[in-house]
Amino acid sequence: MSKENKDYSRYFDFSDAKLIGESEDGTLKYRIRGRDITIHSQPDLLAEKKRGRQGIEVIYDHPVTEELSDFGLGKYYEIVTYGCQMNEHDSETIMGLLEQMGYTQATERKQADVILLNTCAIRENAEDKVFGEIGHLKSFKLEKPSLILGVCGCMSQEESVVNRILQKHPHVDLIFGTHNIHRLPKLVQEAYYSKEMVVDVWNKEGDIIENLPKKREGIKAWVNIMYGCDKFCSYCIVPYTRGKERSRRPEDVLLEVRDLARQGFQEITLLGQNVNAYGKDFTDLNYTFADLMDDIRKIDIPRVRFTTSHPRDFDDALISVLAKKGNLVEQIHLPVQSGNSLILRKMGRKYTREHYLELAGKIKKAIPDAVLTTDIIVGFPGETNEQFEDTLSLVKEVGYDAAFTFIYSPRDGTPAAVMEDNVPMEEKKERLHRLNELLGEFSRRSNEKMVGQTVEVLVEGESKNNPHVLAGRTRTNKLVHFHGSRDQIGKMVEITITGAQTYYLRGENKEWITSGGAASFA
Ligand code: SAH
Ligand code: SF4
Ligand code: F3S
Repeated sequence: MSKENKDYSRYFDFSDAKLIGESEDGTLKYRIRGRDITIHSQPDLLAEKKRGRQGIEVIYDHPVTEELSDFGLGKYYEIVTYGCQMNEHDSETIMGLLEQMGYTQATERKQADVILLNTCAIRENAEDKVFGEIGHLKSFKLEKPSLILGVCGCMSQEESVVNRILQKHPHVDLIFGTHNIHRLPKLVQEAYYSKEMVVDVWNKEGDIIENLPKKREGIKAWVNIMYGCDKFCSYCIVPYTRGKERSRRPEDVLLEVRDLARQGFQEITLLGQNVNAYGKDFTDLNYTFADLMDDIRKIDIPRVRFTTSHPRDFDDALISVLAKKGNLVEQIHLPVQSGNSLILRKMGRKYTREHYLELAGKIKKAIPDAVLTTDIIVGFPGETNEQFEDTLSLVKEVGYDAAFTFIYSPRDGTPAAVMEDNVPMEEKKERLHRLNELLGEFSRRSNEKMVGQTVEVLVEGESKNNPHVLAGRTRTNKLVHFHGSRDQIGKMVEITITGAQTYYLRGENKEWITSGGAASFA
């Protein structure tokens, strides 16, 4: 770490912050109002933005050493996860590490000896929720001073967040980032013994750490195929918080998928911020996302999904592989963000409305029953009503089955945050409402078309509101409710669709009814 990089003094704008120690490896110790803070490394948005030429190192790590393997025996943890599937999956790694240390998952918060908040920085309201929770956790810390309260995930990678915690939330014990999850066992131990706040957030572009344990449950599993993002869409914080695009080696991914198949998982979702950029960073290998999908197609796992793909990198080779179907399901999440080419240019998406429509057309031609879903942002700085109407007309033209829709939220440090924004919030809310109405209509219409069809449903469990009803998903990821027996959970069953709502379908399992089950809904 360079000398300039070690100047943490800018965090502390009050006079009682005192530097009390400095060690060879760059670690600094401060004392602020009686609280000692150890800073191993700090977030730095400027450094996180850099994309250098140095190669990506794959580290095959075993972070839970013998010495740490019983550290958590008899103790409990809780982890609260915000944000996307990437974060959900990181939490599975964190749980895996803690359980290798002997910790057990707490059934109630009071029981927990370690509480971790795995945070998301994508929009301002996501961050507000986390700060609310940090404040709320103060009383738990006061009641149980040995509790280790940690903050990790994407927010930890932001200087402003770490600054705010240091200044306003001294009851936090540990802050670590998205690149050094494997350091968790050591950091928990350090925070426990030192009683200091420990900060270790790497701002380098990121390596790949293999062999980390993962706590997976149920019948569906996530598999990272790549990390980071180099797209730098002008509104988005992810390239800063997740580092540069780097792909796991194909042999490591295939090994993991084969292992999940052996364990009986029914569905996997391949994860990356931009999965179809997979392999572009290999210097010794010509192997793309299409090649990976073609290899995974041959593995005996019933359903394979992926998220998220970027329209710019969605090539013909990938479409041909997906058209082979088999375990590759016919649902594709293809975020469009806007239907207006000028807004797309300001967003830095690197495609036009026409290119996107052409791509959607190609996919539908090759896979006629493909279901497309998307992400849309309304109220980007300067978006006019006409430009928003272009988004509505694109939605009609593509005919999405579902979409995640968001009001634009400025993120510090991103180019869009300094663009002039003259669209009032009321107007943005109104646009979001109109968009959601339209999407709801499309979703209902597409669901109604399914009435009478018999489809394969993977049964996930009891439905949320009625334990007598089972819930499962079609290959296209539509939610289906039906009457059945608990032993069908985790299995594929044939369901005849009998009714359609906007966000779910109702159906019957004929086999179960013939064997004496009841058909109608209570
Ligand atoms: N890598 C994925 C998206 C990850 S973020 C992709 O490129 O598709 C998930 C979604 O959050 C994005 O698709 C976008 O619609 C939304 N989003 C990202 N930054 C945002 C911001 N600053 N304000 C509002 N929505 C945002
Ligand atoms: Fe963000 Fe764009 Fe990267 Fe998606 S592709 S994570 S929206 S920068
Ligand atoms: Fe949020 Fe980070 Fe995911 S910002 S959306 S948790 S990559």
